Amino acid sequence: MDIVRNPAEVQSQCLSWREEKLRIALVPTMGFFHAGHESLMMEGRRRSDRLVVSLFVNPAQFGPDEDLDRYPRDPEQDIRTAERLGADILFMPEAGDMYAADHAAWVEVPDLSASLCGCSRPAHFRGVATVVAKLFHLVVPHIALFGQKDWQQLVIVRRMARDLAFPVEIIGLPIVREMDGLALSSRNAYLSPDERRQAPHLYKGLELARTMVIQGITDTAFLREAIRRHWAENFSLGREDYLSFVHPENLRPVERISGATLVAAAMFTLRARLIDNVFINP
Ligand code: PAF
Repeated sequence: MDIVRNPAEVQSQCLSWREEKLRIALVPTMGFFHAGHESLMMEGRRRSDRLVVSLFVNPAQFGPDEDLDRYPRDPEQDIRTAERLGADILFMPEAGDMYAADHAAWVEVPDLSASLCGCSRPAHFRGVATVVAKLFHLVVPHIALFGQKDWQQLVIVRRMARDLAFPVEIIGLPIVREMDGLALSSRNAYLSPDERRQAPHLYKGLELARTMVIQGITDTAFLREAIRRHWAENFSLGREDYLSFVHPENLRPVERISGATLVAAAMFTLRARLIDNVFINP
């Protein structure tokens, strides 16, 4: 595996692979790998001739009061993991090489970015869409793989790739969970032992709604109350950021569940912000 820091170098290598008709997979990450990242790398490896993993803690997607400086990092361990999983290139650029001091061009998908995580993180998806577009230009991948835990990110990237005609297939892979249901996230490292014990109830609350829908309850106001009761009783260290029932593709709110619906939520703890989602289809 080559560790490449220079964007022009990664682009030149990937363009020559394209000329050789080799199929390239890209797994964009911010590092501190867990089994969720590993599932993306394994699937990327399986579906391509060349696997490029990017590791870049993208400053543009963090708000001024967010955790950019303390975002968990372990480059040595990440290098070992990417190598073990068969990456051909681990692309680890410096922020200054990705964003010139007078960087001024941004990619936005406003329609899908304002709701859910976009309410408390107003510039987040602009930063994500911009860096992913840049990675697509540098790596020219045939496929790019993302986790479904960041469902909103996935639909935004898909829309961006379609609207800007990137010749790439966007693949979303299922959420990987701990045994107790907590969705894997690099930010789980921020949880105190007590918060970690309660955190699986974020998911369990959402699962409760799924069970109620199977039993015939479709009014989302009623379901929302049931989830909030569950959290109040079991996740006292969490504070709701949002809890939404939305159409999975256009992210518009759903009031009565009659088709595929995404139940998405975010919770603050003292030092972390956790997100999760489940699908409901009556
Ligand atoms: O999901 C992430 O880790 C990041 O948002 C991504 C897609 C790597 C862009 O920085």
